[in-house]
Amino acid sequence: MKKLTRVNHPPRIDLPPDNHPVVAPIYETVKFEFDSLDETTRFLQGGRPGFFYSRASNPTTRQLELTLAELQGRDDCFVTASGIGAVAQALIALTKQGDHVLCFVETYNPTRYLVRRLLARFGVTYTMLSIEDTAGIERVLAAQPTKLVIFESPTNPVTKIADIPKLTQLARARGVLTVLDNTFAGFHQHGEFDIDVFVHSLTKYASGTGDVMGGAVIARTEIIRGMRADFGALGGTLDPHAAFLIQRGLKTYFLRYSAQCASAMRIAELLASHPAVARVHFPGLPSHPQHALARAQMKEFGTIVTFDLKGGLEAGARFVEALELFALAASLGSTESLVVAPQMMKGRDLTPEQQKQSAVGDGTVRLSIGLEDIED
Ligand SMILES: Cc1ncc(COP(=O)(O)O)c(C=O)c1O
Repeated sequence: MKKLTRVNHPPRIDLPPDNHPVVAPIYETVKFEFDSLDETTRFLQGGRPGFFYSRASNPTTRQLELTLAELQGRDDCFVTASGIGAVAQALIALTKQGDHVLCFVETYNPTRYLVRRLLARFGVTYTMLSIEDTAGIERVLAAQPTKLVIFESPTNPVTKIADIPKLTQLARARGVLTVLDNTFAGFHQHGEFDIDVFVHSLTKYASGTGDVMGGAVIARTEIIRGMRADFGALGGTLDPHAAFLIQRGLKTYFLRYSAQCASAMRIAELLASHPAVARVHFPGLPSHPQHALARAQMKEFGTIVTFDLKGGLEAGARFVEALELFALAASLGSTESLVVAPQMMKGRDLTPEQQKQSAVGDGTVRLSIGLEDIED
């Protein structure tokens, strides 16, 4: 073999069958081959396991998928290039022209865009309510055949809690799929409820370090099986290197989440006693209007502390600029604390009435509590 050929066909290093890496390697390869055409065709016809093309599946991304499925208490998972990629691909795979979707004023802004603008272009209609409007949800599901309901709990940014047992019971009774964006609550929460599809942004708590993006769709085997062809064709899969970084981050997920929750609780209590603060939105505080519901359905209350400053927009601006450790930045769930100003959170696609329902006010500030020493 000439050297030019050798550098393109380096020596293969196969591990003996009884010799395993303690940390799984990154399979940073697009292609896999079998020993023969027969075995290749057998694989392509579904007759044997293996890997062929990383857009469809790859050992590194598969390891992450199986880990996440187990954490969330479901059988299967598909990982995507970002959290909103997971939401988009799930919505596209689950709906068709003529379907109706129920979403909420409190739904993450880009998810609202997907339902109200993108799906609408393909003939999918929607109704948007407040997540607190249980009677309205019951009425809409009774009045109109509905394909799915997509929701969050706690909601972003004001941490409203969805009544998950009630919502899933209403949906199940009408044959409506429930899709829960569980990013805020995390993989270890809400798995015991009758949710059909979980979506997550892995950009947040999964890696924890804020240096990699990813998303996941987690569900029963038959639901994921039904979506897999669409996922493959949409092509928004996660890169193996990103999957490796997220898998590495997950090792400390439980420790980080709990420590950050404990700090969030103390900061929520501190803010609640401050004279400049009108109201603190944190489900762990007994003053939260849905504290009892949060206690009943969550093990930990999350790391997002949102509060309303009495001084409105101007006070919000002064507050976020005066902070020294909190980065004025998007995202959440990473080990460094972050802050979002009221000027950055208004739902511009919402009517004044819907903005009121969303409870994001002029003085609303969102904190994502990191892993710093609580005294700092
Ligand atoms: C609740 C929720 N879902 C989805 C996303 C989207 O995740 P990503 O930024 O990884 O696309 C976010 C991002 O902030 C989020 O807060």
